Amino acid sequence: MPSPCHGPFDLRPPQTPAEWEAYHRIRQDVLLEAKKYAMEHAEELAPGHHPMLLWLDRRPVGSIRIDIDAAGRAGLRLVAVDPDLQKQGCGRVLLRLAEEFAREHGCTRTVLYATLEAVGFYAKAGYQEDDWDDVYVSGIVQMAKPLCNPAQGETPRGKT
Ligand SMILES: CC(C)(COP(=O)(O)OP(=O)(O)OC[C@H]1O[C@@H](n2cnc3c(N)ncnc32)[C@H](O)[C@@H]1OP(=O)(O)O)[C@@H](O)C(=O)NCCC(=O)NCCS
Repeated sequence: MPSPCHGPFDLRPPQTPAEWEAYHRIRQDVLLEAKKYAMEHAEELAPGHHPMLLWLDRRPVGSIRIDIDAAGRAGLRLVAVDPDLQKQGCGRVLLRLAEEFAREHGCTRTVLYATLEAVGFYAKAGYQEDDWDDVYVSGIVQMAKPLCNPAQGETPRGKT
């Protein structure tokens, strides 16, 4: 299945050692949680887990892992944009392409754990608070978004 591509942006799995290095570097630069995942390839390559790098032209600018489960949910994990390029629209594209990937893999819903600082970012992309997981973690907001078929139009909140 081809990777989704929008204009100069492209979302695809890291392949070479240099691309894996970029994948880990971007998220470790901006996410404390990512430091424990340093080059932990077993978790990255578990069944249903899809590590992805966002490219802008020839530059890797963002990273995400899309974890697909048997219930047709896509968990968006460790969402990160290069600090030099934040607040310029890359995060929005990263989410949109990840949702497209999830939809192409038969998912009907994306779910995530948002930090309090990132809740506004996800809300702007159509995510709403939703206790989809039984586990409660202080300072984390569980959010979700239904993935509609593009033929049926936009998502309920309209803007992704
Ligand atoms: C959160 C993050 C992925 C957003 O990426 P980004 O490229 O800066 O976001 P964008 O520029 O695409 O922003 C899209 C919209 O969300 C808004 N936005 C971005 N970050 C926001 C935030 N922290 N709070 C509220 N709104 C935010 C933007 O203003 C923009 O709004 P607009 O549509 O009205 O113009 C990025 O800032 C990042 O990597 N942060 C550190 C890691 C992190 O917090 N990851 C999420 C953990 S759950």
